Amino acid sequence: MRVKKPMSPASSSLCFFLSLSIFSCIKSDELQILLTLKTAIQGSNTDVLVSWVSNNHVCNFTGITCNSDDSVKEIELSNQQLTGTLLFDSICQLQSLDKLSFGFNSLYGTISKELNNCVKLQYLDLGNNGFSGSFPRISSLTELRYLYLNNSGCSGVFPWASLENMTNLVSLSLGDHNFSPTPFPVQVLKFTKLNWLYLSNCSLQGPIPAEIGNLGELINLELSGNNLTGEIPPEIGQLNKLWQLELYQNRLTGKLPVGLRNLTNLQNFDASNNSLEGNLSEVRFLTNLVSLQLFENQISGEVPAELGQFKKLVSLSLYRNQLTGPLPKELGSWADFEFIDVSENLLTGPIPPDMCKKVTMKDLLMLQNKFTGEIPASYANCLTLQRFIVGNNSLTGTVPAGIWGLPNLIIIDIQLNQIEGPITKGIGNAKALTHLYAGNNRLSGGLPEEIWYLKHLRVLKLKNNMFSGSIPESLCSCN
Ligand SMILES: *[C@@H]1O[C@H](CO)[C@@H](O)[C@H](O)[C@H]1NC(C)=O
Ligand SMILES: *[C@@H]1O[C@H](CO)[C@@H](O)[C@H](O)[C@H]1NC(C)=O
Ligand SMILES: *[C@@H]1O[C@H](CO)[C@@H](O)[C@H](O)[C@H]1NC(C)=O
Ligand SMILES: *[C@@H]1O[C@H](CO)[C@@H](O)[C@H](O)[C@H]1NC(C)=O
Ligand SMILES: *[C@@H]1O[C@H](CO)[C@@H](O)[C@H](O)[C@H]1NC(C)=O
Ligand SMILES: *[C@@H]1O[C@H](CO)[C@@H](O)[C@H](O)[C@H]1NC(C)=O
Ligand SMILES: *[C@@H]1O[C@H](CO)[C@@H](O)[C@H](O)[C@H]1NC(C)=O
Ligand SMILES: *[C@@H]1O[C@H](CO)[C@@H](O)[C@H](O)[C@H]1NC(C)=O
Ligand SMILES: *[C@@H]1O[C@H](CO)[C@@H](O)[C@H](O)[C@H]1NC(C)=O
Repeated sequence: MRVKKPMSPASSSLCFFLSLSIFSCIKSDELQILLTLKTAIQGSNTDVLVSWVSNNHVCNFTGITCNSDDSVKEIELSNQQLTGTLLFDSICQLQSLDKLSFGFNSLYGTISKELNNCVKLQYLDLGNNGFSGSFPRISSLTELRYLYLNNSGCSGVFPWASLENMTNLVSLSLGDHNFSPTPFPVQVLKFTKLNWLYLSNCSLQGPIPAEIGNLGELINLELSGNNLTGEIPPEIGQLNKLWQLELYQNRLTGKLPVGLRNLTNLQNFDASNNSLEGNLSEVRFLTNLVSLQLFENQISGEVPAELGQFKKLVSLSLYRNQLTGPLPKELGSWADFEFIDVSENLLTGPIPPDMCKKVTMKDLLMLQNKFTGEIPASYANCLTLQRFIVGNNSLTGTVPAGIWGLPNLIIIDIQLNQIEGPITKGIGNAKALTHLYAGNNRLSGGLPEEIWYLKHLRVLKLKNNMFSGSIPESLCSCN
């Protein structure tokens, strides 16, 4: 006959045999559990655990919240520079535990299958750690509402099937994992309460299922950096609460679906670096966009005039497409506009004059198009500007004098245009300038000596212009 393994005398058996109250029985158990946990997570930052000592009450331990019965309900130790391992066989004996939060630490080791015993958990965050091995099945954790495992360090096959009954999930973050390639997990399509879904960079492949349209509570949908193929399903237009939609760096094809226009709450939309085609007409209705990124696709047609009226737009990146026609005149003139990159398209017409109206713009990148007209004088006031890149267009006129001397400019590229007039003395104020590309224009006059005193200037390309005068002999002594 086999003898049962005796229980720890300090806790269960003692309180059972001495008929202590169940209450204090749980208490001493919980103290033991937490002190055991502590021994395994002694990190470089032990300050946070100094209160975890046997003569303190567990409910007074840093990071512990108890319920009204004084039993441990929450462990919140995210972002505490902890290192070590988590003893789930021990932790999951905490009978009332509904929140376990250890994100943003340096925990390691495998996540053991005993995690599945934490059946009351509503909130689990093990993300942003250095765990290893594959993730265990957690089919018992059906109360979960928040599940953050992104960038946990786990790999292998993720046990998607074990999540099938977690229909209370509100947030699910599983991105940034080197998992084995898998189709889009169908289990997720039943989590109709989800408002946060982060599945970027976790080896998804194949199409985005049409049933994604079931997740009508979604505010954030991130599927970037996978290997997703096929078209963006039109059902995405049913997700009318979406605030952010991230689809970049996949292999998506086809047009922006009809119905995308319904996403009028969308502020951030990024489908860059795919193989999308067709035009931007669905974007016309997304009037709350703050950031629109569709670079590196095969999108054609014109930039819709409506974009010129988007009152919140601060960042627009459409480079490397086949866009034609002019940019809207009032583009970027409403909010604290910061960034435009429309390089490598077939755009025509003038540079919109008011993108730096609020003096917040950092990057104006319009390389290699067919822009015409003069550089608007308004940019001479753009003190925040760091990169002014309009090379390889058909710009004419002179460079407004103030632009040469903008104090934060790092790069000026006006090469390959038909720009005339001088480089003015004001360039001496361009203290941050490292690169000046002005070759292949009709610039003239003498070079101001201030150029030679720019401390950080590393590249100066001026060939094929009509400059006159001499270059100082001392030139070879400058940096
Ligand atoms: C928790 O700590 C406070 C002082 O920080 C003390 O007054 C209180 O008695 C402690 N509670 C328990 C249950 O030990
Ligand atoms: C990743 O997980 C952390 C918690 O570890 C969470 O705060 C964060 O929001 C998650 N990131 C995304 C994009 O969901
Ligand atoms: C989900 O619930 C159903 C019905 O209770 C059950 O048959 C199934 O095994 C559960 N799935 C998992 C992964 O536990
Ligand atoms: C993708 O995930 C891996 C972890 O598997 C991480 O190291 C990497 O930084 C992530 N890439 C991006 C772009 O976030
Ligand atoms: C994407 O999937 C294709 C097969 O469909 C595969 O050949 C390719 O290696 C995958 N790329 C990545 C980055 O996983
Ligand atoms: C977009 O909204 C319209 C009007 O509310 C609706 O008829 C249409 O079905 C919606 N489209 C999608 C794809 O949800
Ligand atoms: C575009 O995606 C490919 C992989 O799909 C990646 O290698 C490349 O760096 C991405 N380009 C940009 C600009 O992000
Ligand atoms: C944009 O594409 C849609 C769908 O292909 C088409 O119906 C529409 O006429 C196009 N709009 C413009 C302005 O070319
Ligand atoms: C200038 O742009 C044209 C396309 O407009 C391109 O073919 C050419 O290679 C570009 N020249 C340089 C030097 O980049």
